[in-house]
Amino acid sequence: GKGEYDHFMLKEIYEQPTSLAQAIEGRIDPENGRIALEDFPSGTFEGVGNVQLIACGTSYHAALYGSLALNQAGIRATALLANEYSVTAPPVDDETLVIAVTQSGETADTLNALRQATAAGADTLTVTNVVGSTAAREADDTLFIRAGPEIGVAATKTFSSQAVMLTLLAQRIAADTCGEPPADLTSLLPDLSRMPAQLESMLVTDDAARIADRYRDSQSYFFIGRGLGYPVALEGALKFKEITYEHAEGFASGELKHGPLALVTPNTPVFAVFTGDEDEKTLKNAEEAQTRGAPVIAICPDDHRAVEVADRHIAIPATDSELAGLFANVQLQLVSYHAANQLDRPIDKPRNLAKSVTVE
Ligand code: M6R
Repeated sequence: GKGEYDHFMLKEIYEQPTSLAQAIEGRIDPENGRIALEDFPSGTFEGVGNVQLIACGTSYHAALYGSLALNQAGIRATALLANEYSVTAPPVDDETLVIAVTQSGETADTLNALRQATAAGADTLTVTNVVGSTAAREADDTLFIRAGPEIGVAATKTFSSQAVMLTLLAQRIAADTCGEPPADLTSLLPDLSRMPAQLESMLVTDDAARIADRYRDSQSYFFIGRGLGYPVALEGALKFKEITYEHAEGFASGELKHGPLALVTPNTPVFAVFTGDEDEKTLKNAEEAQTRGAPVIAICPDDHRAVEVADRHIAIPATDSELAGLFANVQLQLVSYHAANQLDRPIDKPRNLAKSVTVE
């Protein structure tokens, strides 16, 4: 049941310290800078030359996060919408690894793309939450995110676990194909192991609730980010529109001035996610919106330069740039939750949506 929580979504947001601890349990060795993914011992990915990640919705945002982590690690990788795959699949060769990212393992669009990739001769792997799901059975290999059941239609804890598992997978693939892990695992892995406790402390703050209240009745809600902050901005907007029914859009920070800026007014708050990926540029983009009267809410650590510039601030702990966006995402989940709650929306079952979309 929901226990002390009013909604499953809130319960699942608050479960993230635990679900993330479960995801990394036994899979990282922070002291020695080693990653151990049970079915994927070192050398597993030696022949991989390019990666395609296929997914829909929130899982697509996690896949995009994973593809950027892979790119940053020096691996050719593209995230693709599974529902577009039948018309836009890039060529598959014998070095292609296709990774299906799906919480349920039952999404029809994702299964179709997975089957197409298999037929084209790609090696396939699924990153899923559900043991025994169709995707888990059909892919060559499976990596379970171990998030526990997610009841709310809005995906929350599973996004975090997918993104973390893909971050680890990216380092493993890079280590196998380039010889050594490109990221400084002696800093990433200890930061990752600190994450559950840091999330726990962050979840007792009320920044997100205050911001949701302050900006209720706005016309549109914009979310911007760069690098790993970009998928987080997209996910922030998806969550917001899905459960509040208000208009929300996510953009790459640098794209604002290429069109969306025309929509910016004092009535369109802009949430700016800072992950350490060229934050100065994102700050400049946020200021461009601010100049047009939009309130800017910076999601960043307390000592970040954006705090002085922004109208408001939602704090995240200082951490590795590979992980900062995941803290920001949790804060944005809370902003959406509180905004939807003020509007008295049916948070766990938004209109017109299903938890698992089993039709094409
Ligand atoms: O089960 P899947 O991860 O394959 O589901 C894909 C999407 O339908 C899903 O992520 C959806 O976008 C979320 N429930 C939205 O919060």
